[in-house]
Amino acid sequence: MERREFIKAGAIAAAGFTILPSGSLFAGTNGKVRLGYIGVGARGMSHIAEGLLRDDVEIIAICDIQERSLKICREHIAKSGKPAAKEYTGGLDAYKGLLDRKDIDAVIIATPWQFHHPQAIDAMKAGKYVGCEVIAGLSVQDHWDIVHTSEKTGIPYMTLENVCYRRDVMAALNMVRQGMFGEIVHLEGGYQHNLRSVLFNDGKSYYGGGVEFGPKALSEAQWRTQYNIDQDGDLYPTHGAGPVMHNININAGNRFTNLVSFSSKARGLSAYVEELAPGNPNAKINYKNGDVTQTMINCANGETVMLTHDTHLPRPYSLGFRVQGTKGIWMDVNQSIYIEKQSKDDEWEPAKAWFEKYDHPLWKKHDKEAAGAGHGGMDWFVFNAFIQAVKQKTQTPIDVYDSVTMSVITPLSTKSLAEGNKPQEFPDFTKGKWQTRTNKFALDDSGF
Ligand SMILES: NC(=O)c1ccc[n+]([C@@H]2O[C@H](COP(=O)([O-])OP(=O)(O)OC[C@H]3O[C@@H](n4cnc5c(N)ncnc54)[C@H](O)[C@@H]3O)[C@@H](O)[C@H]2O)c1
Repeated sequence: MERREFIKAGAIAAAGFTILPSGSLFAGTNGKVRLGYIGVGARGMSHIAEGLLRDDVEIIAICDIQERSLKICREHIAKSGKPAAKEYTGGLDAYKGLLDRKDIDAVIIATPWQFHHPQAIDAMKAGKYVGCEVIAGLSVQDHWDIVHTSEKTGIPYMTLENVCYRRDVMAALNMVRQGMFGEIVHLEGGYQHNLRSVLFNDGKSYYGGGVEFGPKALSEAQWRTQYNIDQDGDLYPTHGAGPVMHNININAGNRFTNLVSFSSKARGLSAYVEELAPGNPNAKINYKNGDVTQTMINCANGETVMLTHDTHLPRPYSLGFRVQGTKGIWMDVNQSIYIEKQSKDDEWEPAKAWFEKYDHPLWKKHDKEAAGAGHGGMDWFVFNAFIQAVKQKTQTPIDVYDSVTMSVITPLSTKSLAEGNKPQEFPDFTKGKWQTRTNKFALDDSGF
């Protein structure tokens, strides 16, 4: 970045993000957002698919260290009829060549977790908006680094947490904002998804199946399973924490103050491998990540939050949301709502009817555009939210403070467990600004 621009960006940051990066930071191309992608594996490809569907996005460059991923991406772009993207590959630093390009406004990072922190920092230093897949960094310090770099450069950083845009989650948020549940006192959520066939893979299909991980496997089994071996803790808190945060205005009048985690024994992954391939050495590994990890969080305004990480056991999918207040409750697991004086006494009602009635205005407006996009349409929303912010040169709707808040739960929960379930202070990444910030998430159509 030129020195003059750097000073300007620094001044913007000092003003506390009220002014956003000036147009001079971006070359701008007839309202089109010029994207670079770092990591085009399973998730990167779904963001590629979103980009290809839009007339306001140009995919300028892609970077990946595996030819297999690049080939799938190259062929997909060719099939769409859009121009080929310039490719960067050849080593862990190949992404730096992509970041050197002056004709890229923003990057989508969808690499394994250990690369998010360095790649995002380098991207912000290169003046590119960052849309990064879940997990901002591995350590608490990594999360501070992301905040400090974003503040110093004035470049927005957004965790692409799609569940914040799930239709029922947004309908529940709409109900919360209309006071249907009364004053909110307790919330739950989590990542409760049988991932065993993703964590083990025989190298034949990107989508898993088998008992291998590491170099012999494909996609997430190549790298993610190692985290389950090495680390206890809530490894994936953002699907639960992101939506919960918006319901109780975290970083906008409220904040997480401390947390404590508990973790069960780890049996699920060994049992899975042993069942499929008796005697396989992967069944003998001492997986450190407990099968069910629960984290309780206190909030400045008195609410409690419980997050669950549960990905190693047989179970149907449910993120297990619960929003509970002085007038009623939503439970995701039985898809039911109870609103006192409106529901029959002590009887659950199907959530469906309530959510149709309180469908979020953004979903009503955009359901056709979202139809067919990944994960029930929420992938269109999260991608669109990022693109709109880049286009308008505004702050991203999930900003850097919200991004690191939902992600830092991982190292804090690991530390709590390592210290015998000791409570951990939650960092105030906003440095007091949470007291005066307001929650603008999904309040209007200017970028969600
Ligand atoms: N929000 C969601 O619903 C969702 C769903 C799936 C994955 N994810 C997240 O997306 C991210 C990627 O997951 P995935 O499923 O696509 O994994 P993946 O293994 O399928 O893809 C990762 C890609 O990154 C490439 N890569 C590895 N190191 C690199 C480097 N240094 N530079 C460039 N490329 C590199 C790999 O070759 C691979 O193609 C993770 O953070 C994951 O948690 C989110």
